[in-house]
Amino acid sequence: MHRTHYAAEVSAQEIGKTVAVAGWVDRRRDHGGLIFIDLRDRSGVIQLRVDPSAGPVFSAADRLRPESVIAVEGVVRARPPGMENPELITGAIEIEPMRLAVLSEAKTPPFLPHEEAERVDELVRLRYRYLDLRRPKMLAHFALRNRVVFAFRRYLHEHGFLEVETPALARSTPEGARDFLVPSRLQPGHFYALPQSPQLFKQLLMVAGFDRYYQVAKVFRDEDLRADRQPEFTQVDIEMSFVDQEDVLREMEALVHAVFRESLGVDLEPFPRLTWDEAQRRYGSDKPDLRAGPPLLDLTAAAHRDHWPVLGAAEHVAAVVLPGVNPSRRQWDGLLERARALGAPGLIWLWRGEDLRTNARALGAGFVEALAAAAGIARGDGLLVVGGPRAETCAVAGQLRLEAADAFGLRQSGWKFLWVTDFPLFEWSDEEGRWVSAHHPFTMPHPEDLDRLETDPARVRSLAYDVVLNGVELASGSMRIFQPELQARVFRVLGLSPEAVTAQFGFLLEAFQYGAPPHGGIAFGLDRLVMLMAGAKSLREVIAFPKTARGTDPLTEAPSRVDPRQLRELSLTVVEPS
Ligand code: AMO
Repeated sequence: MHRTHYAAEVSAQEIGKTVAVAGWVDRRRDHGGLIFIDLRDRSGVIQLRVDPSAGPVFSAADRLRPESVIAVEGVVRARPPGMENPELITGAIEIEPMRLAVLSEAKTPPFLPHEEAERVDELVRLRYRYLDLRRPKMLAHFALRNRVVFAFRRYLHEHGFLEVETPALARSTPEGARDFLVPSRLQPGHFYALPQSPQLFKQLLMVAGFDRYYQVAKVFRDEDLRADRQPEFTQVDIEMSFVDQEDVLREMEALVHAVFRESLGVDLEPFPRLTWDEAQRRYGSDKPDLRAGPPLLDLTAAAHRDHWPVLGAAEHVAAVVLPGVNPSRRQWDGLLERARALGAPGLIWLWRGEDLRTNARALGAGFVEALAAAAGIARGDGLLVVGGPRAETCAVAGQLRLEAADAFGLRQSGWKFLWVTDFPLFEWSDEEGRWVSAHHPFTMPHPEDLDRLETDPARVRSLAYDVVLNGVELASGSMRIFQPELQARVFRVLGLSPEAVTAQFGFLLEAFQYGAPPHGGIAFGLDRLVMLMAGAKSLREVIAFPKTARGTDPLTEAPSRVDPRQLRELSLTVVEPS
């Protein structure tokens, strides 16, 4: 047997007893003839203390290299008084080895697990990912990820959801990103697409009468990568039948509450709800960060009524309140520059101290007072005001709100969830010169807007919703169209010909002709959720073997060239990029 205990399990109760432990050499220190070794395994670290009188054990310890794998049998001792390390669970004890075997000798590694991750180039971390994953912090991320997935599965299982796997070799689904294609050997010239989501399959499962489905699904999107985007990522994908939107939101909110309680021990507050329109007006975003200070103020009505200079003619006037700040002149100028960089023609700032400071004095003292009064700011508060076209103005003010919150330490901590509902059904695509689906073409239009579907697509809302956590889109879903006539109307607005529709998703529409229940669902971005829970800045911290921003894996060197024979079998030729 290699071990009787994991390192961190050895406790003061074992003092005087013989134990066997096994793991990696975390550190070795020589102290006046004594050798101290920290042995690390998945549970933590325990100190070995080797005396020169230990003979062969001492000479073995003397030759030990960092990260070699060893097995040790020895007696547990209390550390001498004053030598305890309160930062370690095992800090009051140590092992005096009687036997020490080197099971696998390590070369000098490019970095050590206890070195700070920030000091190691990320490419090197990814190239030697197995060493990087030895960091206790990385291990903790995966232990958390495991708890989260387990909590999802427990809740969904207990609430009657059936876990069903759907194909990875699939047909392209209309999620909007580029597909990863897989050539078919048996059907030369034909391709599978790796699924961008199990969307169509889960709807088919509803037609099949499975009623409640879920899947921890790997999905694939060939899009430009960012810190919160990976080309392959994991969704907790869910669909429910015979429900309305309220049923879905209630059940999914209960699910998130259960996941946080079980995996983090956190009791969440009920999620506030905002319509997409309110979210734009109050936060300038469809994924508001509720931690970043108060919402935007809409001063449009006051500006129009009182014919404010400059702002009185603007379609929309938005203001950011900065409670209890005292920015320097340079900081105010910095905010003005940011506003311009974000596309605003200008920015009025003011600050109420002893008197009122502002960059808008030239517009009149009365106006500045009126502005401060309309915003209702108190002593010590700052205010940023922008005016212009509605969407752009809200977006700029929303972005300034976030940046100012960081600059002045206004961002609170905690878990600020919300639902954003009533997303627009369509977006205009300049590139394609037509309306495209904001979510996907099977999203149910808002029943109150059905009569303007063809006449005013821009103003048609949908039964689509997002879960947002701390400014990050965590989950997205919608109620689905299950009536073929309504689906045909939506396709017409999207400018899709019946032939194009049949070619792309004829199978789904056909299925709907054989009895489809009303249904809706959602998909959670699991990686994003774990990233936020872990307090990590990038998805790469919570995915074991992630891709770089260029879509490569430095460890296995994927993607790679393949044997010409493989290409021939697939009837493919490579046209080298010029
Ligand atoms: P959507 O495309 O919004 O919806 O995706 C759902 C959730 O997946 C996460 N996500 C990502 N995570 C990491 N890397 C990416 N590249 C990435 N893209 C998306 C986000 C997002 O909220 N079929 C629909 C869901 C439905 O209607 O049921 C869908 O896939 O957290």
